Amino acid sequence: MQLWNKGYEPDKMIEEFTVGNDRELDMRLARYDVQGSMAHIRMLHKIGLLEEEELTKLLAELQNILGEIEREEFTIRPGVEDVHSQVEFLLTERLGEIGKKIHSGRSRNDQVLVDLKLMLRDELREIAYSANTLFTRLQQLSEEYKDVLMPGYTHLQVAMPSSFGLWFGAYAEALVDDLQIVAAAYRIANQNPLGSAAGYGSSFPLDRQMTTDLLGFDTMHYNVVAAQMSRGKTERAVAMAIEAIASTVGHFAMDVCLWMCSNFGFVRFPDEFTTGSSIMPHKKNPDVFEIMRGKCNRLQSIPNEIALLTANLPLGYNRDLQLLKDIIFPATLEIRQCLEMCHFMLGHIIINTDIISDSKYDYLFTVEDVNRLALSGTPFREAYRQIGMQVQHGEYTPHREVNHTHQGSIGNLCNDKIAEKMRKVMQTFAC
Ligand code: ARG
Repeated sequence: MQLWNKGYEPDKMIEEFTVGNDRELDMRLARYDVQGSMAHIRMLHKIGLLEEEELTKLLAELQNILGEIEREEFTIRPGVEDVHSQVEFLLTERLGEIGKKIHSGRSRNDQVLVDLKLMLRDELREIAYSANTLFTRLQQLSEEYKDVLMPGYTHLQVAMPSSFGLWFGAYAEALVDDLQIVAAAYRIANQNPLGSAAGYGSSFPLDRQMTTDLLGFDTMHYNVVAAQMSRGKTERAVAMAIEAIASTVGHFAMDVCLWMCSNFGFVRFPDEFTTGSSIMPHKKNPDVFEIMRGKCNRLQSIPNEIALLTANLPLGYNRDLQLLKDIIFPATLEIRQCLEMCHFMLGHIIINTDIISDSKYDYLFTVEDVNRLALSGTPFREAYRQIGMQVQHGEYTPHREVNHTHQGSIGNLCNDKIAEKMRKVMQTFAC
């Protein structure tokens, strides 16, 4: 039975095709749907569309349904289109006529919008917390291993001295930038669309400020058409935030795969954190970081998926928008999984503390030696030529002394300054 049933049964194939897996996806919206309904009916009461007694009964039953959702007893019955219909059917089944009153002044179009905003706001906060936890671990490792040198590469050729402090610290600071994008998406999601109804408002004197306050939104999407247009645009902003984090974590995962390669051997993990081969008995594979890299690479495609899904849609609600859930819902979970797994693995990473004494890394120090000459008075280009000729004739022997002091360099990581930037951006998510 559909909310819009007018005495004829829709064709089964049509129903299956249009509903698809929306019922399963809607389960994640259930508690937000109830919260949205609670705010809506309080407002309906305030503007005189519900009696006090009706409001009390409806609120109590919605509270019951919330309990059922939390105890995982709530289901969307087969034949019921979506979570919004299921909640309304339950109210009518249990309370009779008054259940039929709650839909005044709203449409499933603004209902799903408000559910999504509430959910995405929570998801973004969780993503930010997980990213911040990983950030803290990266910074700890950066401090712990700040004196352990490793090769730095350009073009994948040995370039200049780097350090584990610099490497871990780099990904920590990259996460700060990613969280600026998460914070922007959070501010976009934190606006109340309720009251936009089907997308063109309502002739009821709705008090939209009241539902904005009740649901704890920062502000509302004032223009009802803009509110409806925010379906798709909000998901796109969230997708961009996820993409930003995925690009950082995916890049880090690639580094770990490379550093774990036996030709490098810069890092390793205890055996139980690696995987084996069915044919080669010696293998200790970095599957965790390969899966992480793969998931993160795939997650970077979701802004494009959303762009294509929503490109040139006519103004107003279109059913295509339902398919956004299928893109964004799994992605919010997957990015958190990746962040949490990365944090977990970094609790067990084993660092090779003696990499650069190997002569294959001798050329790491050419720039240090050029600079040493330049500091003692030789013009830079001449110093460069002298060391260059030594390399050319196989006569170069490095000093292996590294003395970097400027901000953000091996010898002056500025991790405290980076932590301060992170603290500021995390304030966005304070409840
Ligand atoms: N399941 C629908 C969606 O996600 C709910 C809104 C349906 N509205 C409509 N007019 N068909 O978009």
